[in-house]
Amino acid sequence: MGVLDGQTSLVTGASRGIGKAIAIALAREGSDIALTYSTNRDPAERVANEIQQMGRKARFYQCNVADPAENDKLVDQLNDDFGTIKVVVNNAGITRDKSFMKMNREMWHDVLNVNLTGPAMVIHRLIIPMIESGGGRIINITSIVGQMGNFGQANYAAAKGGLIALTKTLAREFARKNVTVNAVAPGFIETDMTSEIPEAALKHVCDETPMGRLGKPEEVAAAVVFLASPQASFITGEVLSVNGGMYM
Ligand code: NAI
Repeated sequence: MGVLDGQTSLVTGASRGIGKAIAIALAREGSDIALTYSTNRDPAERVANEIQQMGRKARFYQCNVADPAENDKLVDQLNDDFGTIKVVVNNAGITRDKSFMKMNREMWHDVLNVNLTGPAMVIHRLIIPMIESGGGRIINITSIVGQMGNFGQANYAAAKGGLIALTKTLAREFARKNVTVNAVAPGFIETDMTSEIPEAALKHVCDETPMGRLGKPEEVAAAVVFLASPQASFITGEVLSVNGGMYM
């Protein structure tokens, strides 16, 4: 018996890293899982297989969240395979870092499209059936960078800060419809996204983090499971930081 028995969850960008940990943690609590990936099919298939071995239903879909036609196709497939999605986790995200003066228009738009417009459009397409089915949960994966800014990440900070503002606005709009909308804001977590940060910069991050280390994807996933669970039924518009105390 899990706290999410009988639920159906969508996790975007769940082929690896934080998204993979979220998909597995939600499944462990009893949810069926629809997961998406952008380019790498095999890792997504492996995550789906792992979830099926737990006895849950799992399907994986190729979908660039920044592409409206692919979003439409995804929603049709979800409808056929699962019916209503009750828990939406907008996890897919990218970085294109450069100091602001060197950042070009393409780097700006790529990051805004994937990290902010993508989640908004996914929610836009899934919210009506969610409301009609009696309610649900939306959880957006933002970032500590959206809360405090970061050198070389103007595009990413703007997108993740925008995602927090979107979360709070939708929390107000859907509160009477039994849909909670929350965000999880990880600090620096051990994934492919942070693997290219130079050693010296990672040491600086650890020095600036009261707990003195990077976080693990599973520690972010635990926060998502809580917000998806019945225990979080009166929490909406919240930004739950999972950052070892780096920003408080
Ligand atoms: P990652 O790079 O390891 O994984 C990103 C996932 O998003 C992959 O599955 C990838 O296929 C998918 N993705 C990328 N572009 C996509 C697109 N256009 N459409 C659909 N899927 C796409 O990243 P990580 O570290 O697991 O990050 C997951 C989320 O957590 C992101 O939103 C990221 O911004 C956020 N985050 C990560 C932190 C970290 O330290 N790793 C810190 C704070 C937030």
